[in-house]
This record gives sequence, C-alpha cells and structure tokens, in this order.
Amino acid sequence: MTLYDYANTILMGESLEDKLLSSVDIVWDEMETWQPERCDMPGRSSQIAFSEDQIKFPSKEALRVDKEKGKALHFFANHELLAIEMMAQALLLFPELLLSQKKLLVSTIEEEQKHFMLYSERMGEFGVNFGDYPLNSFFWSFMSEIHSADQFYSVVALTFEQANLDFAHFYKELFKKLGDIKTYQILEEVYQDEIKHVARGRVELQKKVNSADELWAYYCENLPGKLTPARAKGIHFDNFGRAKAGLNPHFIENIKNYKNTFSVTNRKQWKK
Ligand SMILES: [Fe+2]
Ligand SMILES: [Fe+2]
Repeated sequence: MTLYDYANTILMGESLEDKLLSSVDIVWDEMETWQPERCDMPGRSSQIAFSEDQIKFPSKEALRVDKEKGKALHFFANHELLAIEMMAQALLLFPELLLSQKKLLVSTIEEEQKHFMLYSERMGEFGVNFGDYPLNSFFWSFMSEIHSADQFYSVVALTFEQANLDFAHFYKELFKKLGDIKTYQILEEVYQDEIKHVARGRVELQKKVNSADELWAYYCENLPGKLTPARAKGIHFDNFGRAKAGLNPHFIENIKNYKNTFSVTNRKQWKK
C-alpha cells in the first residue's frame, strides 16, 4: 500500500474499518508524491455520518451514571475520529512534507486510532456504541481554512490538541474521583500521548523561528480566520502538560492570559 492509498482510504473510506486502517502495510518511498487533494467532507457511512443535531455533554454530577459516562466517551471518541481524518487530509494536502514529517503524522494517526479504540471499548461496557449519539463535525470545519502545513500544526497540534490537554487532565481526575479507575487509566494514556502530539507541532513550528520567544508570534500568525489562541485552552489550565510538551513559560503565560475579543467584535457587527 502506498502512503497516498493509506491516507485516502482513511479520509474517503466510509466504514470504521477504513478509519482504523493499520499503517503496517505502507511501502515507504521517499520519491512517492501526488497532487495536493482536498475534500469537502470525509467519507462516512450512515452509521457514523455527521449530524446537525446538538446534544449536551454530561454534567459532572451526571457522570456517576454509566450511560452518561458512555455518552462522555462517545464525545471523546468522535474527537479522535475527527483528528484521524484531519491528519489524513493533511497528508493528502501537503505532499511536499519530508518523509520524516509524514512518518510522524502516521504515528500520530496510529495513536489517535488507539485512543478511539480505547474509548470505544470502554463505552461499550457502559452500553453505548459509536454512532448512538449525533456526531458533530466542528473541528473538521476548520480544515477548509488551512492552506499550509504550519497552519495545520498551529490549528491542530497547538490549538485543539493543546486544549485537549486541559480536558483530558480534568476528566481523568474526575473519573479517578468517581472511583472509575479503568476510565481514568484510559484518559491518562490519552493525556500522555496528547502531550507528545502538542510537542510534535511545537517542534515543527520552532524550525521556522529563531528563538523560542518568537514562537508565540509565529503561532498567532498561522491561525486562520476567526480562530484565536482562546481555543487552545479548556476547562482547567494544565501548566504541567504544556511544559512537558516543551512550550516555554512565555508561550504558556500568553495562552493563559489570552482574552478573546470575539464576542465584542460580534456585538459591534450586530449593532450595525
Ligand atoms: Fe487523541
Ligand atoms: Fe492527538
């Protein structure tokens, strides 16, 4: 299997089997290339199709109930699946990446596939199957604005995966408090892997700047459209994970103190 076929099957294939395709059969070839390809929407069979229906994430109190735990893991699993598809799309969009960079993207896809499986098996124990609840395409919607590999690393690794450190940390501790050690251990494993994913993005962007202090400006410059660093943090600010991902104190402080002006801008538009 060529790398192109691997990425294309994951992105355009419609079944979960396609999305979870193993990379073991890839025949790595430094000379392999293709024309950049962009798709509007990933392939998805009716069982795992995107839905416009919105459901609420379970509250902290609700997470004492198994079914609600399953629902929370269903949200997390969908994020993993979206990450898998976005990374496959990045491979197809940026054939100019070095072989080493492509291999790192494939390693990241493998880890997201593992996360998906861990969540999927655990939610099954709570009586929930993937596709039981509506699946949103929120993260995917940013793909159309990504036109360079550095924008991709800024959006996916340094924004969404960075925010995921906060969520994974918060929920792993919550499940531990609830006495659900099995789910805690899954979230701990995901958390440790996500630290690596943030670090991989950081290393790529770091190559383009002269010093660690310049990383912040370069990162902001590479966020497309209305996306701001406010999206790079979640429910609880995890300093430890960010530092472990190699973000320097200057970058971490900037993220921590970042205030979004989006609502103000919105209101101005509304008044006109
Ligand atoms: Fe993940
Ligand atoms: Fe990740």
